Amino acid sequence: MKKALITGVTGQDGSYLSEFLIGRGYDVHGVIRRSSVDFRERIAHLEGQPRFHLHYGDLSDTSSLVKVIGLVRPDEIYNLAAQSHVQVSFDSPEYTADIDATGVLRILEAVRITGLADTCRIYQASTSELYGKVEEVPQSETTPFHPYSPYAVAKQYGFWITKEYREAYHMFCCSGILFNHESERRGETFVTRKITLAAARIAQGKQEKLLLGNLSSLRDWGYAKDYVECMWLILQHEVPDDFVIATGVQHSVREFATLAFRHAGIELEWTGEGLDEKGINKANGKVVVEVSPDFYRPTDVVNLWGDPSKARRELGWNPQKTSFEELVRIMVDHDMKKVAKEQALEHINLAEYLEKGVVK
Ligand code: NAP
Ligand code: GDD
Repeated sequence: MKKALITGVTGQDGSYLSEFLIGRGYDVHGVIRRSSVDFRERIAHLEGQPRFHLHYGDLSDTSSLVKVIGLVRPDEIYNLAAQSHVQVSFDSPEYTADIDATGVLRILEAVRITGLADTCRIYQASTSELYGKVEEVPQSETTPFHPYSPYAVAKQYGFWITKEYREAYHMFCCSGILFNHESERRGETFVTRKITLAAARIAQGKQEKLLLGNLSSLRDWGYAKDYVECMWLILQHEVPDDFVIATGVQHSVREFATLAFRHAGIELEWTGEGLDEKGINKANGKVVVEVSPDFYRPTDVVNLWGDPSKARRELGWNPQKTSFEELVRIMVDHDMKKVAKEQALEHINLAEYLEKGVVK
């Protein structure tokens, strides 16, 4: 039985990757960090399964990484842990560098220290943010990098140190240069999930308005569940290499919002420009989307569009398994149910609920 170690196991990708690898017969070990509140919602359904194990550790703490890697002795490591929010990286640039740059080095060194350099394959979660202020459209493995945020600069180090260890020590370490991928498990402050949750709440009378930043920003959005398969395929390739993972289709934040609100039953009409742009509910004339400067970034990446030809050709991966329309539908359907459930819980007397046996 192969053993995989996943850092960032509590995150969106970590939870899907755990499910995927357990399904492939792996013994899965995840690294979690201590928190005063429970952030294990995404992996709660896996806890207690015989082939799913959790260990405390932190990417800022070399000794914990050496300990976990030495104990598990994994065949594959998926380094997904990161301070992953681009806007937050402007507020916490030093912490972001420590985890997203030096943290990668700590993993690579821990593998060498524990004597696993010849046997352990390592996947590094690199990002389309490396292309930043893009120098070419669409972006492929040969497009020059131009990182455009503290997050992207830190991830640039992570990418190059991974490549360096491959070349210097002949280690099997690879980067997946993943374009944005979303899901019903996406963190609630990333733009897609912020939109789908707000559309569901506005449609059900629980919220008046949604405030967004740059509506014209363009992204290549895929479904996270499809992308974790690619992480695994990259580590099964005969030779270690780096791959762009994307759908090859691009949409704006405005288009995402239009489709999400439509699926929630609200047809939007857009008026105005820049900070004055508004999304109006055609049915009643109410303003439901407004632009706020609070969500603008000091430097923003506005034209991400990936070319997944190499992954399709060499890994046999299908970049269009889930379409953009289907992705929006999955997320909105999930959030419509989530909001309805929260609303039901608000209205039902808990004693009555317990009596009915709904809550155990
Ligand atoms: P996410 O949902 O934000 O998850 C991040 C994970 O990293 C969480 O499990 C978090 O743990 C963990 N983490 C953060 N700081 C840590 C630390 N100091 N030590 C140990 N663990 C730490 O991110 P995601 O969307 O799943 O993305 C996974 C990876 O892919 C990240 O590296 C991200 O930068 C990269 N990436 C994501 C995308 C995308 O579109 N989703 C695209 C390209 C690259 P807590 O739960 O304790 O906070
Ligand atoms: N978060 C957020 N909130 N973004 C907004 C908003 C808003 O209210 N309004 C507009 N945007 C724009 C941002 O300016 C950005 O151009 C775009 O929407 C996408 O923002 P995010 O969803 O926060 O994602 P990201 O592209 O910055 O970063 C994500 O994808 C990267 C891969 O390209 C993260 O998952 C990163 O970890 C990942 O590397």
